Amino acid sequence: MASLGLHRLRAPALGRCPPALCRPHSTQASGRRRGAQAFPALPGALLPIHTHVYEANSRNSARCRSRYMELLEKVKLGGGESAILRHTQRNKKLLVRERLKRLLDDDNFLELSPFAGLALPYGDVPSAGCLSGIGKICGIWCMLIANDATVKGGTAYPISVKKQLRAQEIAIQNRLPTVYLVDSGGAFLPLQAQLFPDKEHGGRTFYNEAIMSAMKIPQVRAAGSYYPITGAVVCGSCTAGGAYIPTMAEETIIVDRIGTIFLAGPPLVKAATGEDVSAEDLGGARLHSRVSGCVDHFAPNEADAYDCARMIISTLNFEPEPSEHPEYEEPVYDPEELAGLAPCDYQHSLDVKLILSRLLDGSKFLEFKADYGTTLVTGFASVEGNLLGVVASNGHLTHDAALKGSHFVQICNQRAIPLLFLQNTTSQDHLPPNVSKAEQLTNRLKAQACMMAAVACATVPKITLVVGGCHGGESFAMCGRSYEPNFLFLWPNARVGLVDPYRLSWSSQKDEGRTDETEFRTLLSRLKEESSAFYSSARLWDDGVILPQDTRHVLGKCLKIIRQQRYETRFQRSPVLRM
Ligand code: COA
Repeated sequence: MASLGLHRLRAPALGRCPPALCRPHSTQASGRRRGAQAFPALPGALLPIHTHVYEANSRNSARCRSRYMELLEKVKLGGGESAILRHTQRNKKLLVRERLKRLLDDDNFLELSPFAGLALPYGDVPSAGCLSGIGKICGIWCMLIANDATVKGGTAYPISVKKQLRAQEIAIQNRLPTVYLVDSGGAFLPLQAQLFPDKEHGGRTFYNEAIMSAMKIPQVRAAGSYYPITGAVVCGSCTAGGAYIPTMAEETIIVDRIGTIFLAGPPLVKAATGEDVSAEDLGGARLHSRVSGCVDHFAPNEADAYDCARMIISTLNFEPEPSEHPEYEEPVYDPEELAGLAPCDYQHSLDVKLILSRLLDGSKFLEFKADYGTTLVTGFASVEGNLLGVVASNGHLTHDAALKGSHFVQICNQRAIPLLFLQNTTSQDHLPPNVSKAEQLTNRLKAQACMMAAVACATVPKITLVVGGCHGGESFAMCGRSYEPNFLFLWPNARVGLVDPYRLSWSSQKDEGRTDETEFRTLLSRLKEESSAFYSSARLWDDGVILPQDTRHVLGKCLKIIRQQRYETRFQRSPVLRM
């Protein structure tokens, strides 16, 4: 992660007091701090009482980090060394990361779900055979969707389709122009039944292209109107389904001798008609730019194609945000210490304010309802100069905590402040032992339903970060995947599953009538494997695993991306209700 070059004041070692000062903001000179600069600082020092939990979490985080690095190395190799050689030397094409580098303004790229496709029932499909992420072109944040042809010729597996659909969804939600770098042999034929017929299968990507083009949404700071356009660069084969991506795009560039577009390639033509035809004659760059009109720009080589794509983006008539960065304070406490605060299980969760004090600008936090429903922490803060509302799990989502959450979410929605959910939920309690407990649980259920409705109806951008567990019904109120957060990231220690397997024990199961211990242990080990962050990310239940110490920069980037669009509160038809 690129350093912002700002001075960071570090927290002291365990047990000592933090330095009182932090990097001053320029408005301090006037004697009064403004906005989030004036919020009170959180007390975030680590105390001796935290040592045991902190150290256990740190050990677990070190294991998670090495797994994370190992997977990162693996996916960077795409389809492997021989496929890379075939791609670069025989086919004379640039590798997908090199292509992105040439297209983007800089390396400030938010890659999404790099671990998607690993260890699936049908094998390893590194990065789902296609990279997706958000980067700047001519100062404008754009969604990039780029096939990696070193992975089985860039063919679409079911997980590739899912990844592309999620990227389009993010582009729609955040009003991002989208650029496709197409280099694909179409559907991965052996799995066609899992990627062709259904609504959320391959055809949906082409449908979305039309919908995105039709979404003419005026942009608040734009000189004219802002269109979430789609453009495509054909820098390889576009066979069968792959052919519709460039032809459905608003503007398309094709690279000479490298780009081809056809519904069926030369081998199929030969099989069907007996004719020998070259790929170039059947659907090459000259044919499509001069005869068929399937593309709009002819590029003699890849470098020219990416220059051309940049020029197209500059015709959006969109005024990028001013490039100067807002000044902000680094947290008083060291974000590196987040590794020791990332809980290895629910029993190892420390006060969430220790996490917040290492994520937020200046460790400053204007808490809302500090003494009410304390198992949920809510309040205002900023990350890299962007104001946001924080909703953070700090224990069970009790009746009062859920009411407080509903109230706070409505306030942020009313004020158009993006929401950040820090989720660490566990499975529900067991059956109530008596009537009064049952009544209590029912009231809690009603309050949680209320918060779920408030979160579902909030139209402000939402970011969810799973810092610990994502289990049971409480995960919905904390803006789980089905609540459509604009972005959802996991820490590598996070666990995702209906129940928390680390809270299941043989003795409790025996009490509930289970008799076969071996069967239980097999189930438990499956539940543990299926709840890991990497298992989740391989299936695209999130937008990626991020390391705790990188979180601040990832959040800062997401908030800048979100800010590019105007998020409106026009659907807000009811007042804030005091809960
Ligand atoms: N389904 C399944 N596997 C496919 C595939 C497809 N549609 N297209 C390519 N592959 C596999 C190849 O079998 C090969 O696998 P291997 O590495 O295990 O041997 C790998 O992808 C790379 O293909 P290869 O032909 O060796 O690479 P290339 O760079 O010379 O050509 C393509 C790539 C995509 C141009 C070429 O493979 C092709 O034309 N494929 C057929 C496309 C097609 O007819 N699609 C119809 C889909 S409905």
